[in-house]
Amino acid sequence: MTEKLENKIFEPLFSIEGIENIEVYEEHGGYKALREALKMKRDEIIEEVKNSNLRGRGGAGFPAGMKWSFMPMDDKIEKFLIVNADEGEPGTFKDKYILSRLPHLLIEGMAITAYAVGIKKGYIYIRGEYEEYARILEKAIEEARRKKYIGKNILGEKFTFNIVVHRGAGAYICGEETALIESLEGKRGHPRLKPPFPANAGLYGKPTLINNVETIASIPAIIKNKGFWFASLGSQKNGGTRLFGVSGKVNSPGIYELPMGTNLKEIIYNYAGGIKKDKKLKAVIPGGISAPILKADEIDIPMDFDSLMKAGSMLGSGAIMVFDEDDSMLEVLRIMINFYHHESCGQCAPCRYGTDVIKKLVDKILNKEATEEDIDLIIQTAQSIIGKTICPFGDAVGMAVGTLVRKFKDEILDFLREENAES
Ligand SMILES: Cc1cc2nc3c(=O)[nH]c(=O)nc-3n(C[C@H](O)[C@H](O)[C@H](O)COP(=O)(O)O)c2cc1C
Repeated sequence: MTEKLENKIFEPLFSIEGIENIEVYEEHGGYKALREALKMKRDEIIEEVKNSNLRGRGGAGFPAGMKWSFMPMDDKIEKFLIVNADEGEPGTFKDKYILSRLPHLLIEGMAITAYAVGIKKGYIYIRGEYEEYARILEKAIEEARRKKYIGKNILGEKFTFNIVVHRGAGAYICGEETALIESLEGKRGHPRLKPPFPANAGLYGKPTLINNVETIASIPAIIKNKGFWFASLGSQKNGGTRLFGVSGKVNSPGIYELPMGTNLKEIIYNYAGGIKKDKKLKAVIPGGISAPILKADEIDIPMDFDSLMKAGSMLGSGAIMVFDEDDSMLEVLRIMINFYHHESCGQCAPCRYGTDVIKKLVDKILNKEATEEDIDLIIQTAQSIIGKTICPFGDAVGMAVGTLVRKFKDEILDFLREENAES
């Protein structure tokens, strides 16, 4: 284990009993970063976030400091902050640890962010199923309001910031930032064409900063320890630690906070205890279902945004799904396309029709009525969706489905041949 592993942001707090209560959070240094931030100049805070190399933890990995600097600094303009707590990407279960155990870390991060960017109102858009966590957040917000960490004249300063918790209604697409904004406005969650980006015209047409839960919850540590410290925890251009959620055929599934850039093989074999029953590893999805699958011989790779992109995949939400020799990749494909087919919002024809065509072809394979040409047609259809839709949902379908079918075509062919042998 390297020295870097001693430097963690979330895990030491997770282990403190009662940390979701404000008094316990304060006893362990809670809200000190907000006090410090209020003494800083606003552009100094943004500079620290830039120095930290913090990249968005929601999926795309966009540099947080840069995104903040796109917001207009004029305080006469009404602006909004939205925390994306939709956590809809299949395989992902990291944000719920922050929402349930560290609501005050998130609130503190939101208050610092709002102060730095000159925002008076923030929303937490939380997935509908997280009803219990929404209640925990509401209670924490009330506690923070009573102690003057949010509300009017925060800690006696001329700074006002309020937070509203808004529960989603169960659509995956509402995790996409512009669909989320539409949904928050009370409309159907259809993504908007970009530009304009939310920083220019977001919620109610006003400049809006939108970040993931883990991104915003990293802010207090950056203020306390400074941006370069945070940057030094991770790898080049990928600052900090990351909450990796490991699931599937490993001995110890769960959340592991590790430096950005930790080797995927090390995460699976050293931290998550290796493959169950000593079976052979078959494949890994490294960042939620939208991240193109890696074969067993492709997992010797640093888990950061750039390395995975180079390998033709994505770090995404950091959700690592592990499959062993007994897992059927055709079954993974079936689950994947049923999900995308169900969740496509239907706004763009390539995505609406493409997911339908692929689903029918997969059903044809499962019914043992398909030929090799049908398998190739899935790959072509998947490819034809990429770059043709308003939001990245279409790219995700195209890349995730196309890669899986390309890499495991032989297994699908074997499945079809088995039938021929039987008949
Ligand atoms: C279909 C789709 C679903 C998404 N779901 C989520 C989600 O559940 N949570 C999230 O934080 N980001 C999600 N995103 C990414 C958001 O659009 C956006 O990039 C993110 O909230 C920005 O925050 P960040 O820069 O801190 O990552 C999704 C994107 C797409 C295309």
